[in-house]
Amino acid sequence: MRTIDWVDGHIELIDQTKLPGELEVRTVTELDDLINDIKRLAVRGAPALGVAGGMGVALIAQQGLKGAELEDASRRLANARPTAVNLSWGVRRVMEYANEGKDRILEEALAIRDEDIASCYSMGQYGADLIEELLGEGQHAIMTVCNTGGLACVERGTALGVIQTMFERGTLKEALPVETRPLLQGSRLTAWELEQMGAPYRLIVDSAGPFLLRRGFAQAFFAGADRITANGDTANKIGTYSLSLGAKAMNLPVIVVAPESTIDMETKTGADIEIEDRGTEEVVNFHGVRTAPEETQAINPAFDVTPHENITAIVTDRRVIRVDRGESPSTVPLGPIRTRSN
Ligand code: MRU
Repeated sequence: MRTIDWVDGHIELIDQTKLPGELEVRTVTELDDLINDIKRLAVRGAPALGVAGGMGVALIAQQGLKGAELEDASRRLANARPTAVNLSWGVRRVMEYANEGKDRILEEALAIRDEDIASCYSMGQYGADLIEELLGEGQHAIMTVCNTGGLACVERGTALGVIQTMFERGTLKEALPVETRPLLQGSRLTAWELEQMGAPYRLIVDSAGPFLLRRGFAQAFFAGADRITANGDTANKIGTYSLSLGAKAMNLPVIVVAPESTIDMETKTGADIEIEDRGTEEVVNFHGVRTAPEETQAINPAFDVTPHENITAIVTDRRVIRVDRGESPSTVPLGPIRTRSN
């Protein structure tokens, strides 16, 4: 099943706010509904947002929007969430064909979808090989944050895609997803995906992460990325930075897994990344129950930035960048897209 797809002239997406209780597929026929779905995280995760960006432009182009109107609406879509570079990347990529007509725009949006599927298999191969190289043969437990699985992409994931490949190769001891407050992408979505895979896992609360790394419960920490800057600094779900510190303190590999489209060479360092603040409500309520005094105000950054000093390697669909050896996105040439069998 695909997280987001183009079906009979409109977009279909899994409403991730309903999981794990309900697997509901939404039909999206209006741009404003898509923007709202992005803002409320019905569709989320950097690569899925890239596909949503491309398909959103295709949707309004099919409805007859062109010229300045198409540009204005596309800008609104690209700005629905600020941190994941893939959203604006997806919009920009299809808008390059704005003058070639609606069918060419749709063709490009579908190409983004298809490339995402292929790139996740490739990341799985590069990542699982790297883990064997770093940790040796045998089975290893992996801690991970947020949801970086098929639900964050189209069919298969990035960091969770590597965990899936390890499971298929027989090298996964267990996955330890952190629940990922405040919206629980780890428990609602990652645990659900691991369950579907039949992979061994145990869920942990966010604050247990560094301690469990210290106690040897996991041999590496994997994260996805919303934006990787030219020097390798990485924005990802809030909590990634503290887990990277915990892993680094124990000399454990910190592996960032993301497609090439998440690398933003125009942004020099993590200090230049805009971090989405999602406001007070998500923090002071839990499933509709108030958990803090009425007047409480919260600071709620949806993402943090892990400095490249804390990262062992960045795995993409085209290469492994050994950040711990001084490599960066600008120093390592692209390699081939790998398939399930190579
Ligand atoms: O707020 P979200 O759920 O969109 O945040 C998602 C993440 O931080 C993911 O780790 C990232 O987008 C990579 S997804 C393969």
